[in-house]
Amino acid sequence: MADYADPYAVSGQFIDIMIAGWWSHFGGAVAEAVRAMPAGDAPLLDAGAGGGWGTRLLARTLPSARILAVEPSPVLRAVLLSRIAADDDLRTRVTVDGDDLLSARLPDRLGGVVAANLIGHFAPEERDRLWRDLAGRLVPGGFALVNLAPPVEPARVERAPMSRVEVGSRTYLGWAEAEPAGGDRITWHMTYEVHEGDRLVSRDEVHYDWWTLTARRLAAETAAHGLTTQPHGPTEAGLFTVATSP
Ligand SMILES: C[S@@+](CC[C@H](N)C(=O)[O-])C[C@H]1O[C@@H](n2cnc3c(N)ncnc32)[C@H](O)[C@@H]1O
Repeated sequence: MADYADPYAVSGQFIDIMIAGWWSHFGGAVAEAVRAMPAGDAPLLDAGAGGGWGTRLLARTLPSARILAVEPSPVLRAVLLSRIAADDDLRTRVTVDGDDLLSARLPDRLGGVVAANLIGHFAPEERDRLWRDLAGRLVPGGFALVNLAPPVEPARVERAPMSRVEVGSRTYLGWAEAEPAGGDRITWHMTYEVHEGDRLVSRDEVHYDWWTLTARRLAAETAAHGLTTQPHGPTEAGLFTVATSP
C-alpha cells in the first residue's frame, strides 16, 4: 500500500457523481448477476468500490450478505465510508478496507466479487495474480463480475463529453480522450470542469494509464487458473462473469 499511486487523487471528488450514469444504465444487469451469488457464510467483495455504487447494490440485492468494500483512494474511500456509516443497515454489514486489491487482506472464502470499472488498472501480470487469488477463494457457485470498458484494444479515442451533472447552481462537466501508450496500454486524458453560469469555477486535467483487455484474452487468462468466463447482460455493458469451472 505504501507505494500505491492514487490516480484519483484529483478526480476522486467528481467520480462518484459522474459514474452514476454507468450505474443507472447497467446497474440492473449487475443486480441480475448478483442475485445468483451465494450469500451464505462467505462475504462478498466490492473491489475498487469507489464511492460505493456497487457496494450499495450488493447490499440491496442480497439483504443478508456481509460485504467487504476495498477502496485505496482516500478521497473516494471518504465518500464510501460516509455512505456506509450513515445507513444503519449498511454499517452492520459492510466493512471498508483502504488497501489496494493486490495487498488487501481478503477473507479466505468469497461468495462473489463485483469489480466494476476497475480491471484496466491492472497490468497483465497483476491480473494473473488476481485470477489466481480469485480461483483460490471463490466458494462453489461463487463468481466475479467484471466489465471490459471500451476500447478493449489500444486505439485513439477522440475527445468527447463523458458526463454532465447539475448540482445546485453549478454544472460539473467531464471530457475524456485517450491514445495508445505502447503494448496493451492506453493513456486517458480527462478534463473536469465546474461552471456556475458563465463563470468557469475550476478546471482539472488528469492523465492515467489503463490496460485494455479483450473478451478473448480475459477468457484465456482466467482459464489458465481454472476459471470460466461468460458474457452477461447487454453487450454495451461489457460485463462478464468469471467463475470456477463446474
Ligand atoms: C472508475 S472507478 C470505479 C469505482 C466503482 N467500482 C464504480 O464502478 O463506481 C475505479 C476504482 O478503482 C479503484 N482502484 C484503482 N486501482 C486499484 C487497485 N489496485 N486496487 C483496488 N482498487 C483500485 C480506484 O481507486 C477507483 O475507486
